Amino acid sequence: MDYRIKHFESIDSTNKLMLELINSSPPEEGLVVWTDEQTDGKGHGNNLWESEKGKNLTFSLLLKPSVIDPAEQFILTQMISLAIRNLITKFVPDEAVKIKWPNDVYIAYDKVAGILIQNILKGNEIDYSVIGIGLNVNQEKFHSDAPNPVSLIHYTGASVSVEDVLSKLLIEISMIYSKLGSKNYLEKLNKVYLENLYLYKKQGNFREGKNEFKAKVEGIGEYGRLKLRLENGKIQLFDFKEVEFVL
Ligand code: BTN
Repeated sequence: MDYRIKHFESIDSTNKLMLELINSSPPEEGLVVWTDEQTDGKGHGNNLWESEKGKNLTFSLLLKPSVIDPAEQFILTQMISLAIRNLITKFVPDEAVKIKWPNDVYIAYDKVAGILIQNILKGNEIDYSVIGIGLNVNQEKFHSDAPNPVSLIHYTGASVSVEDVLSKLLIEISMIYSKLGSKNYLEKLNKVYLENLYLYKKQGNFREGKNEFKAKVEGIGEYGRLKLRLENGKIQLFDFKEVEFVL
């Protein structure tokens, strides 16, 4: 895939700008909108994404993943999580880097990256996919109430070039994306995803509404739902927002 990078000093949100571009002058696959600062960076739900100007990586990539069925759009999240994980293991010991369902990448018990994917469907195809990524690189102190942020610098000890992280991450994304259409690759992707999933086959604490419970992560079900094995041995599937990890 050919990337075309548009760099800004400050905009409200790279996802928002990408969605506006799609509506006005449909851009080509591979467009990257990258900014040093977002004044209204979006997280999931109503959350804002905190990122100190110039310190971290905040960008959106435009894909046109026509090979992916809209019912299987979670594959995009799997692909991007793995690409981010691969990138982070260049700076941090491999076993410490985990993918936390559904949209986060963790180092040990702390969140280093968040993903916000917004898909635009046309008929039964994903016409555009806006892949928003926030990756903490050099920010040492966080001020929002995000529970457990961490940056690469906490592990490297020295600051890391944000531009270098972007170009390495784009290469990791291409490597996986180019194989999505090939036979048997999805099974492999799923296997590697599970191997690197936070709490996979391990017991953790979860919350559904006010109810806290212990369960083991068993895998991913249809539509990207989280499959948990409860203490009574039963399997239960949870949608996004239905369940959260108690950290
Ligand atoms: C989350 O963990 O809640 C997802 C965070 C996603 C943040 C990125 S930063 C670049 C892109 N533009 C946005 O406004 N949000 C995403």
